[in-house]
Amino acid sequence: MSDTGKSFYLTTPIYYVNDAPHIGHAYTTVAGDLLTRWHRQRGESVWFLTGTDEHGQKVMRTAEANNTAPQQWCDRLVEQEWKPVWKHLEIANDDFIRTTEARHTKRVQKFLQGLMEQGYIYEGKYEGPYCVGCEEFKLPGDLIEGNCKIHSKPVEMLSETNWFFKLSEFAAPLLEHYKKNPESCQPESARNEVISFLEGGVSDLSVSRSTFDWGVRVPWDEKQVVYVWFDALLNYATAVGLTDDPSSDGGKFFEKTWPADVHLVGKDILRFHAVIWPAMLMAAKLALPKKVFAHGWLLVGGEKMSKSKLTGIAPSDITDHFGVDAFRYYFMRAIPFGSDGSFSWEDMAARYTSELANDFGNLASRLAAMVEKYCDGILPNPAKDEELASALSKTVESADKAIVALDFQGGINAIMDFCKVVNGYVTIQQPWVVAKDESKKSELDAILYNTAESLRALAILLHPVMPLSTSKLWSYLGAESSLGPISSQKIADVAKWGQLKGGSKIIKGDILFPRLPDLES
Ligand code: MSP
Repeated sequence: MSDTGKSFYLTTPIYYVNDAPHIGHAYTTVAGDLLTRWHRQRGESVWFLTGTDEHGQKVMRTAEANNTAPQQWCDRLVEQEWKPVWKHLEIANDDFIRTTEARHTKRVQKFLQGLMEQGYIYEGKYEGPYCVGCEEFKLPGDLIEGNCKIHSKPVEMLSETNWFFKLSEFAAPLLEHYKKNPESCQPESARNEVISFLEGGVSDLSVSRSTFDWGVRVPWDEKQVVYVWFDALLNYATAVGLTDDPSSDGGKFFEKTWPADVHLVGKDILRFHAVIWPAMLMAAKLALPKKVFAHGWLLVGGEKMSKSKLTGIAPSDITDHFGVDAFRYYFMRAIPFGSDGSFSWEDMAARYTSELANDFGNLASRLAAMVEKYCDGILPNPAKDEELASALSKTVESADKAIVALDFQGGINAIMDFCKVVNGYVTIQQPWVVAKDESKKSELDAILYNTAESLRALAILLHPVMPLSTSKLWSYLGAESSLGPISSQKIADVAKWGQLKGGSKIIKGDILFPRLPDLES
């Protein structure tokens, strides 16, 4: 836990608004939401930022193709597509930045002006290939027969007089940084990629464009707009007060938030985040992000799922069938964070049924049914099963360790293993048999209390993953009135046994994970 007053600050990439979100975008955002919810439950002050990347040719051309002015296009997509999808997926971001907002554009200009004054910007000529899909100046090795490797589309040849950033000056300091601070670029495969890229040498970067005007104006040259990636990367810092006077509210907020603890990115945009972005920060003498974590891709037919290749799946296609919690659970549980993974309806349905409906949901239903049947719906007085309590302590320890290291799969596995232990406890104790013998009432009470107490812990630990079903379970356990809201339960206290109050009313509510309708229907 941070004792310096600094917030745990996490960002997602800001997404291009050329289209509506697909499950690849949701993947990053859900991961960020899980991690920030976990840190909040660790009692830390947290700041979680997401947003949209609105300038540049990619968005401009899409707006034009739809006969809409770019600003109007962005406004519509942000309000009608992006924000509603994040709300639907229970994303609890603290801020949402749009690169067309004045708070961003003004600070971008001030930052660029600062680099100019420090001598890091000069005028030059850019000649070479550019991919509008990636919004990236390409190197010959990035192309296959004149096509961008990622978009499988022809690149455009540019020849422009632009403003350049002296990126090449930072290759050596960046190499030193990654060798000294291996945790600052993860996983290891990503760091190795960045290191070998830097070892190959880095050219200066064109940071302005002159052939269109959908962007932030270069403050000293009205004919040029800032290169969209230079503009976009700055969102992480402009959103928290970059360039504001240290004594102002913005400056104080910057002090409390910067540097970012984690930038979550897909591996396709690693170099921007692990080479260009830290070089920009070094030039401005600002602290570097503590960690850039590159996750893998969701694949369809072995290729990165993408709207431009018509393989994009909308989150609602999945949540309509499985619900929001199962969506969040599945992607975090099934794919090791950092590796690619393929989505399959069959795998998702199988995990839904065995892990969520049978292991977790059914445990909650059984407990409520038994408390109703044997105790008139009233939770018996506290008891403690030492084995369950010690399994829980170990679970909390390993889940916490895994999740703060962004091993979401490992963390969720640890929690679900505890769920299996509790199911095993109920099966062995056979409360339905114990209930037949009136002299064993206290034994029966203890079994039911221990099961309820285990469910209390499971609800808290799974809350960052599945906020909806765990909140329901929390109220069914009667925990809200005695322990307060589930989101304010602390990870460090989860394993303290005996928190549910005897005498609480246990409610037999909705089934948490109902049987799935047939896939064909
Ligand atoms: N606008 C830039 C990012 C600027 S950040 C300063 C951008 N936007 S994007 O909308 O194209 O993609 C953003 C992110 O979405 C990717 O890095 C990745 O995190 C996520 N994904 C997009 N497609 C994906 C998959 N098929 N699978 C997993 N994540 C994917 O790049």
